[in-house]
Amino acid sequence: MSLDRPSLQSITPWPPRLRLGVNIDHVATIRNARGEGYPDPARAAEIAMAAGADGITAHLREDRRHISDSDIETLAALTRRRGKPLNLEMAVTPEMEAIALAHRPHAACLVPERREEVTTEGGLDVVMLRGRVAPCVAALRAAGVRVSLFIEADPAQIRASADVGAQVVELHTGAYCQAVRERRPEASRLLAALREGAREAAAHGLEVHAGHGIDYETVGPVAAILELAELNIGHFLIGEAIFTGLDPAIRRMRALMDAAKGEVAA
Ligand code: PXP
Repeated sequence: MSLDRPSLQSITPWPPRLRLGVNIDHVATIRNARGEGYPDPARAAEIAMAAGADGITAHLREDRRHISDSDIETLAALTRRRGKPLNLEMAVTPEMEAIALAHRPHAACLVPERREEVTTEGGLDVVMLRGRVAPCVAALRAAGVRVSLFIEADPAQIRASADVGAQVVELHTGAYCQAVRERRPEASRLLAALREGAREAAAHGLEVHAGHGIDYETVGPVAAILELAELNIGHFLIGEAIFTGLDPAIRRMRALMDAAKGEVAA
C-alpha cells in the first residue's frame, strides 16, 4: 500500500456534514390564503437549493391545505433536474402511498395526521400502528424510496421503527423547541431525550434526522447531536423570509448548523 495515500479519516469529514432539508409548505399556505397562483413553492425551492439546502421537503396533507398534487408533480421534476432529493412527508394511507409510488421521491417521511390539528402535533405511533406502517414501508422501499418515520425520541418507538424496516427515523423536536421558546425548565430534559434517542436509533442501524419547530435559537443544540444526519426546517424559515428574504434566512440557518457541528468536532 502506498504510504502517501490519504487516510480514511482525512477524506471523510467527522462529524459528517449535517444536511438541511428546507420545508416549503408554508409558501403554499400563503398562496392558498388568497387562492392566487403566488407565491410559488417551486420558486422557493429553487431559492432554497441555491442558498444551500441539501434537499426539499414537502408535506402533501390529506386535506391539501397547503401543498397540492400539482405542487408535488412540479417539485418532483424540479428536484430531479437539479439532482437534489425530494422528501415527501405523508400520512400512512392508501391514497398517499399510491401518490408516493407514482412519483418515487428520493425519500418519504411517514407522519401521523389528524385533520383538526394545526400542524403535525406528535410522532407517529409505530408501536400501535405496526400493522399499517410495515406494509407501507415495504411497498415504498420496494419502489426504491428511502423511508423515514417521524417519531418521538422514545425507545419503544425507535425499536418498532427498526422492526418495521424503516431506514431512517426523524426525531420530533417540536416539544423541545417550544419549551425553549417558552423558557420552560423541561427544555434540558427534552434535549437530553433527543440526544439519547439519536444514540439509540443509530445503535439500531437507523439514519437519524430531526425536525419540527426549529429556529435560530434551537438549531445549535439540535445540530450538535452527533448522530444526526439531516434537519428538516420550514415554518420559521418561511416566516423569517418575510423580513430578510429566503436566501439570507437559509444561509444563516446553514451557518448556525455548521458552527454547531464545528464546535462538536473541535
Ligand atoms: N419534519 C416533519 C416530519 C414535519 O411534519 C414538519 C412540519 O411539516 C417539519 C419537519 C418541519 O417543521 P417546521 O415547519 O416546524 O420547521
